[in-house]
Amino acid sequence: MTLAAVILAAGQGTRMQSDLPKVLHTLGGRPLIQYSVETAQAVSDRPPVVVVAPDAEAVRQAAGDGAQFVEQAEPLGTGHAARQAAALLRAQGGRVLIWYADMPLLRPATLAALAQAQAASGGPLALLTITSPEPRGFGRVVRHPATGQVTHIVEEAQATPEQLALRELNAGVYCCEAEWLWPALEKLPLSPKGEYYVTDLVALAVADGLPVGSVAATDPDELIGVNTRVHLAELEAALRRRINQGWMEQGVTLLDPATTYIAATAAIGRETTILPNTHLWGGTRVGAGCVIGPNTIVRDTTIGDHCRVECSVLEGAVVEDEVSIGPFAHLRQGAHLARGVHMGNFGEVKNSYLGPGVKMGHFSYLGDATLGAEVNVGAGAITCNFDGERKNKTEIGAGAFIGSDSMLVAPVTIGARARTGAGSVVTRNVPDDSLAVGVPARVIRRNQKKQHGG
Ligand code: UD1
Ligand code: CA
Repeated sequence: MTLAAVILAAGQGTRMQSDLPKVLHTLGGRPLIQYSVETAQAVSDRPPVVVVAPDAEAVRQAAGDGAQFVEQAEPLGTGHAARQAAALLRAQGGRVLIWYADMPLLRPATLAALAQAQAASGGPLALLTITSPEPRGFGRVVRHPATGQVTHIVEEAQATPEQLALRELNAGVYCCEAEWLWPALEKLPLSPKGEYYVTDLVALAVADGLPVGSVAATDPDELIGVNTRVHLAELEAALRRRINQGWMEQGVTLLDPATTYIAATAAIGRETTILPNTHLWGGTRVGAGCVIGPNTIVRDTTIGDHCRVECSVLEGAVVEDEVSIGPFAHLRQGAHLARGVHMGNFGEVKNSYLGPGVKMGHFSYLGDATLGAEVNVGAGAITCNFDGERKNKTEIGAGAFIGSDSMLVAPVTIGARARTGAGSVVTRNVPDDSLAVGVPARVIRRNQKKQHGG
């Protein structure tokens, strides 16, 4: 039997106080709508039907190609929104899951459990409930005092004081028999607020003498609905808990999970320790046995095994194994640090390759440079890679020693094992095994290696 999914996303989201539709607000860096669409795709083999407001081109775009859309011309309530899906689903029968686009952490397994409960109930409808000391403005689930059967759902605004005291809440997720659902949606009464509530399906089923199934959810995080920006912040914390717990279960130590920010798209190897206030964003990959942080931001960067990164910012970089970085270093787009590089404090590397074992301890800038193995970059040495119009390249051969405060005015090549004197301004190529000093630097000794026997 087919199981279709309907996601309601046409509400105005007034309580967000925003120019942006609610479902385009982001959680973990992604628009809310994407979460419900992906959840739907995990439980149903049909593209989910997303109910959108008129002129919601941006919502359609964000939901992606894997969804289909119907429009709710006017925001006349959740029941009215659900009814719009009939246009696409009425003909196919089977069963229909309905839920709200503003509950991004709902798990596919929970939907599957609800569908199972509906099938077992012998009735046309089952709903998900959650018992919580904090009602958060949710509708209350009212049960018959004698039988314990669900009789109806009452919205907070319409609840009596006794109903307000109920702590079994309507999560806002429903599984219905299609054959019963579509006609029932036509019969929903108008609420005192002038809307058609999908929640009134429950009372309709009960009035027909049909049983209503229910499943109690156990993880309240799953059901956090975004009505305000306060809820959005709660969701960020909940998503962070979920992701961080996953990594801890896979052998990553998080000293302070509450201040560790890991994108769902990032990955971390075993025996790595993440220290407080560290952010791993985008497609970041961290290897095994590393220590990252504290106070470190890593974006779209690959870090090898056994690396140490402290108080630094890494963006669009590649770091091989056994590299140590920081404190206060900055890797920018295209930085590639080979095995065993040491990059100390206040260094910046952009679009450059640092060969194995390069040492760059203090206050240096390397841009558009290629360094061979074991180059030593002295304190304050920099590549002058920009001449005001063009970015130019610097090449430094293996084993070269760049003296403190050297200015390498690109394009320029420093030969293998060559040395530049402290404070030299290098405007011309320096041959292998030679020493250049001064402003502008002159070669004062050639073939040092031969002279000094190595
Ligand atoms: C709803 C439920 C409430 C439940 C709570 C759980 C109703 C009447 N109430 O209340 O019982 O406890 O969710 O989070 O269903 N929408 C439309 N068109 C509309 C109105 C809403 O598509 O005309 C969509 C919204 O985009 C939103 C969802 O339906 O994604 C829920 O609407 P919202 O206003 O947030 O309902 P709640 O007041 O939270
Ligand atoms: Ca809501």
